Amino acid sequence: MTNAYDLAYAQSLEDPAAFWGGAAKDLKWYKAWDKVLDDSRAPFYRWFPGGEVNTCYNAVDRHVEEGRGDQAAIIYDSPVTQTVRTLTYRQLQDQTARLAGALAGLGVGKGDRVIVYMPMVPEAAIAMLACARLGAVHSVVFGGFAANELATRIVDAQPKVILSATCGIEAQRVIPYKPLLDQAIELSSHKPSHTVILARPQVKAEMIAGRDIDWEEAVARAAPHDCVPVASTDPLYILYTSGTTGQPKGVVRDNGGHMVALKWSMKNVYNVSPGEVYWAASDVGWVVGHSYIVYGPLLHGCTTVLYEGKPVGTPDAGAFWRVISQHKVQTLFTAPTAFRAIKRDDPDGTLLKKYDLSHFRTLFLAGERSDPDTLQWAERHLGVPVIDHWWQTETGWAIAANCMGLHTFPVKHGSPTKAVPGWNVQVLDEAHNQCKPGQVGALVVKLPLPPGSLPTLWNADQRFLDSYLYEFPGYYKTADAGFIDDDGYVYVMSRTDDIINVAGHRLSTGAMEEVLASHPDVAECAVVGVHDTMKGQLPLGFLVLKAGVTKPEEQIVKEVVALVRERIGPVAAFKTATIVKRLPKTRSGKILRGTMQKIADSEEYKMPATIDDPAILDEIEENLSAIGYAKGRQGAAS
Ligand code: COA
Ligand code: AMP
Repeated sequence: MTNAYDLAYAQSLEDPAAFWGGAAKDLKWYKAWDKVLDDSRAPFYRWFPGGEVNTCYNAVDRHVEEGRGDQAAIIYDSPVTQTVRTLTYRQLQDQTARLAGALAGLGVGKGDRVIVYMPMVPEAAIAMLACARLGAVHSVVFGGFAANELATRIVDAQPKVILSATCGIEAQRVIPYKPLLDQAIELSSHKPSHTVILARPQVKAEMIAGRDIDWEEAVARAAPHDCVPVASTDPLYILYTSGTTGQPKGVVRDNGGHMVALKWSMKNVYNVSPGEVYWAASDVGWVVGHSYIVYGPLLHGCTTVLYEGKPVGTPDAGAFWRVISQHKVQTLFTAPTAFRAIKRDDPDGTLLKKYDLSHFRTLFLAGERSDPDTLQWAERHLGVPVIDHWWQTETGWAIAANCMGLHTFPVKHGSPTKAVPGWNVQVLDEAHNQCKPGQVGALVVKLPLPPGSLPTLWNADQRFLDSYLYEFPGYYKTADAGFIDDDGYVYVMSRTDDIINVAGHRLSTGAMEEVLASHPDVAECAVVGVHDTMKGQLPLGFLVLKAGVTKPEEQIVKEVVALVRERIGPVAAFKTATIVKRLPKTRSGKILRGTMQKIADSEEYKMPATIDDPAILDEIEENLSAIGYAKGRQGAAS
């Protein structure tokens, strides 16, 4: 039987120009596009070339002009500072225009990059919007990254200005940001001409005269700046994400296609209407924060909740229910790990009973595979649909979902339901043939990708082609493996590269290995992602020491743990490593990371036929069981 989803899906693939051209009419354009989709430089596709827009205008000013000036645009809810503050669309417009004025005064204009290294305060969203207003390109860096990671991004993005704050607050811990920022600038070969620092009452920062500027003072003396028309294809932002090496990939997002896709998704994927309250409990440093704390809800005229807290411990596992109830949230989007944390602290959902959630309609989960247990727990306790959906930093919005605004399909636990309109998802085997329903293979998307997805990587067209487009010509490689069942439901099983997912955060084991290898006592190393009941996965290191090292092993483990925290950041959650005599390898020298992971997780594994020395696995197993892993080897038979 045909339903609105089937119709939309078919049209989006058969006639993408008509489909997305129609959706684009919901936005305001200074100049209409010449063409919806330019495929003349395929596989580099461009959406809405010739069009002129401003994303900030569509997210803010437009709503003031259309009568939403007094509606809440952002509700800032910060249990860590005991603050709740509302900004109306009019106030958001005023503050954004002033910050844009201040940035313009510092020489920031169209195409210039601005790094935003901010905690979860409304000024982070204002910073992003102010850049968009000027046609400058923002690059938000997550606060949990170390100075070294920030430096890598400064070198790559070459920002004119960096916007930051004196501190972030992690539950009970205050984290001074300015020393990290100073260190990052010190480490970087590129120096921004200025930093603008938001003074938070918890921490006072040392300011460097001539370079560092106080946010409030800068804004107070600035004249409001108007929106600057930019080309639809101009970059709106760069968001760095983990690649397979320590050099992160700068995912580029354009202005026009991004606006069109996000606005369309608000109604059709999330079934949210303008004026409703939408909450993505994530961080502006991640893609979820870009798309669904800031741009999606604001483009749609919703009220967005910006939450500076945790699902548990701020103050308890009822925090999410308190926010939903207090701000009349209709839709919540978060990562399964947040629900696992809540379930762990309040397994019977007792705290839920304290709050009125009668207006709450839907819970969306993404960022990692939703384990059926957690999903069912949420369904049982919330009594609303719980929708798993699949996406990536690169895609910017959902590849597969139960599109609640089009048609509600029955939920199959473990599946994010069906490909979203615009995404021609297929499963290919190693020989690039289509897999049969149920057969696991590489999840790929037939080109062109829909609007909103990455047009390229920042300053790295070749890396874009190598990473995503070359392996399966004509397709985008998601680097996820999975299958599609007889009913068209997509199942995402695992990554095919060395990316791991820790508490919904995407991390590269390759990058961690680079850090471990830099320790003077380490000859060789490997990092694998092992199962964790709360965070989904955790990194686990294996170290082979150089000959003649006499330092106690515990000391070396402590040092490498500290090194990863210092170089990558606390978000890597790298806490455990074990020292082994050798790493298991194939005869051609490839490290058998998959086998080590299976042993650690006590999963069944096959002795790899090409292993150079099977006895190594016994030592690995012994070591792992001494630190709480490998609780019972499931079979090492060939
Ligand atoms: N600035 C500085 N440090 C940060 C940080 C930030 N913005 N965000 C996290 N960290 C630190 C944490 O304090 C923690 O440090 P620790 O090792 O000293 O304890 C470390 O990085 C790991 O953080 P996290 O993985 O978030 O673990 P946690 O134990 O603090 O919290 C959860 C666990 C599940 C509660 C938390 O991960 C969470 O709320 N997840 C929600 C999911 C989410 O936001 N996903 C984003 C994509 S949708
Ligand atoms: P990120 O780029 O941080 O959003 O991480 C993207 C990766 O997270 C994907 O490639 C998947 O491996 C994983 N992921 C995200 N959402 C889901 C989901 N709903 N189900 C399974 N895996 C997911």
